Amino acid sequence: MDLDLKGRKVLITGAGDGIGRALALAFAGQGAHVAGCARSENRLSSLLAEADGSGHFFHPVDLTRPEEIQTFHDEVLQRFGGLDILVNNAGRILKMGDFFAISDEEWQQSFEINLMAAVRLVRLFMPSLRHSGSPSIINISSIAAGRPTEVFPHYSAMKAALSNWTLSLAQTLAADKIRVNSVSPGPVWTRSWEDEARAFAKASGEDFARVAEGFRDQAGSGLLLKRMGTPEDVVGMVMFLASDHAGWITGNDFVVDGGRA
Ligand SMILES: NC(=O)c1ccc[n+]([C@@H]2O[C@H](COP(=O)([O-])OP(=O)(O)OC[C@H]3O[C@@H](n4cnc5c(N)ncnc54)[C@H](OP(=O)(O)O)[C@@H]3O)[C@@H](O)[C@H]2O)c1
Repeated sequence: MDLDLKGRKVLITGAGDGIGRALALAFAGQGAHVAGCARSENRLSSLLAEADGSGHFFHPVDLTRPEEIQTFHDEVLQRFGGLDILVNNAGRILKMGDFFAISDEEWQQSFEINLMAAVRLVRLFMPSLRHSGSPSIINISSIAAGRPTEVFPHYSAMKAALSNWTLSLAQTLAADKIRVNSVSPGPVWTRSWEDEARAFAKASGEDFARVAEGFRDQAGSGLLLKRMGTPEDVVGMVMFLASDHAGWITGNDFVVDGGRA
């Protein structure tokens, strides 16, 4: 199936690593023009070097700062002159800990990166999306939205809010023919898991590679397909939803999780 994404203008947040990076490379591989952001300039430079095609725009942005989001928006429009597809991918757990371990400030930080960054981007890019011939918004949520876990209650609650908002936004934007969906991955081996394994290895004195393998085995054992996901496992669903093949699909959440055992 040709997804026919050539020439589409796509914005992906959190493009420096993991799922966002895999998405940026995949959209670029399909001939789309990709704008992306993350805080680390190095990761974005290496992404630019790896991406197929030309005319991409990767810029360091801290999405918890509204003024940086505004500047990024202005720069993307200056470069691209419009936008067709917005993928709100950036999101973070920030801290593992039960309810009593999460401070007010940590709840607030989780709110800013996991929900408000997407809210602000949608608001800013609305005029551009209204002008697009094939507009689509895809929010990367999580299975934690519907299946919360006590080790990151703040993150689970914010992802539930993101999934919930996706549905009301789809209602609001239906008149403009802007499709809005969310994709909820299960456990995908990315830098955040790697950082967690590294911290555990350091604290316990165990070998990092063994700890990482243990994490992967444990997360995979709870899934029907008996393995953790890779960033590339999530790409197909997002690209399909971004394409005109999904032209009658809006206001839905799509779980990509290796099967719930
Ligand atoms: N991996 C999983 O198991 C899993 C499962 C379910 C859902 N998800 C969701 O999938 C999405 C991608 O996750 P991932 O695991 O691929 O993440 P990741 O590998 O940790 O990458 C996150 C990306 O977001 C960027 N980012 C983080 N904070 C930012 C900020 N304040 N401003 C701008 N960029 C920021 C990071 O770059 P910098 O650090 O350089 O800013 C990085 O490029 C997230 O929304 C996550 O919640 C992941």
